Amino acid sequence: MAQAELTILGLESSCDETAAAVVRGGPPGPGAILSSIVASQDEAHAPYGGVVPEIAARAHVERMDEIVVRALDRAGLGLAEVDAIAATAGPGLIGGVLVGLMTAKALALAAGKPLIAVNHLEGHALTARLTDGLPLPYLLLLVSGGHCQLLAVEGPGRYRLLGGTIDDAAGEAFDKTAKLMGLGFPGGPAVERAALTGDPRRFALPRPLLDRPGFDFSFAGLKTAVRYALQRAGHVDETFKADLAASFQAAVVDILSARVKAALRWFAETYPGAARHAVVAGGVAANTAIRDALRAVAGSEGFTLTAPPLRLCGDNAAMIAWAGLEQFAAGMTSPLDVGGRARWPLA
Ligand code: KG4
Ligand code: ZN
Repeated sequence: MAQAELTILGLESSCDETAAAVVRGGPPGPGAILSSIVASQDEAHAPYGGVVPEIAARAHVERMDEIVVRALDRAGLGLAEVDAIAATAGPGLIGGVLVGLMTAKALALAAGKPLIAVNHLEGHALTARLTDGLPLPYLLLLVSGGHCQLLAVEGPGRYRLLGGTIDDAAGEAFDKTAKLMGLGFPGGPAVERAALTGDPRRFALPRPLLDRPGFDFSFAGLKTAVRYALQRAGHVDETFKADLAASFQAAVVDILSARVKAALRWFAETYPGAARHAVVAGGVAANTAIRDALRAVAGSEGFTLTAPPLRLCGDNAAMIAWAGLEQFAAGMTSPLDVGGRARWPLA
């Protein structure tokens, strides 16, 4: 049943995007994104080929105040007109997490508004409700720079973990492969671009763990195979890079597809009365080849697949505001002395 409309300001600073957003609505969604400002730090980290925590934290400090003002301005609202303030409290780079969380605490105290500490992963997990009002429960593949997990989403704060990566996250595998191939940072979009013209069958790369049952993932061996292919080649031209990128991406697609297929069957058995919905979320969900493959797998098992629009795949504050909104609607708020957490599993 839809509840009264809530208006939530959300802040995100757990990795390398400084973001603030205002979202309005009520569970189950969809909600209205009144504003969503995302300032990427890609340029600051690119020379290092990865996110440098200290640089990220400083950049968040420099930008957060202005980004919050812009989010409120664009929404046409003052702080007095929001119902609560949500901020990512983890997991992530702790220096950055604290910048957003402390800013939210200060705003909450000054404006006399409730504070909601949000798990960043829950932001990704509930985005399909913000965009599509997806009913609960649903199966979630969460694929980002730091995570690769299969979860059943039962509600805000209620998750069942089926399995996750035993080494690298999917996005991490893309980033490391891009670095090995000299494709730049962030790696995911660069590998996807390079793969467009490549032959995915040229290199026989491994599909680690797929010979074993269960829902866990492994990508480290795949990355190592990419390194060996580069070392063996000596001279590497653009065609070689395109073929290797395409072969790598095809292996990731196969790994994700196989695990999701098994998980969909588990979901159908575990929640026999539930509608059959699956969601892919997180930065890697921006990848077209992965989205297309998962859509086909879902279809073959009688499931719908919801994938966020591209601007909501990567880190943003609209998803944090929405996750905060769902918690607030369920009566959950956080004390002003709530701490930030570098690690914070959903389940
Ligand atoms: O969710 P996200 O923005 O940040 C984390 O919370 O980790 O995910 C970032 C990750 C990075 O590893 C990035 O390379 C990957 O998502 N990514 C992609 C694509 N766009 C971003 N991976 C594959 N294909 C893409 N198009
Ligand atoms: Zn994320």
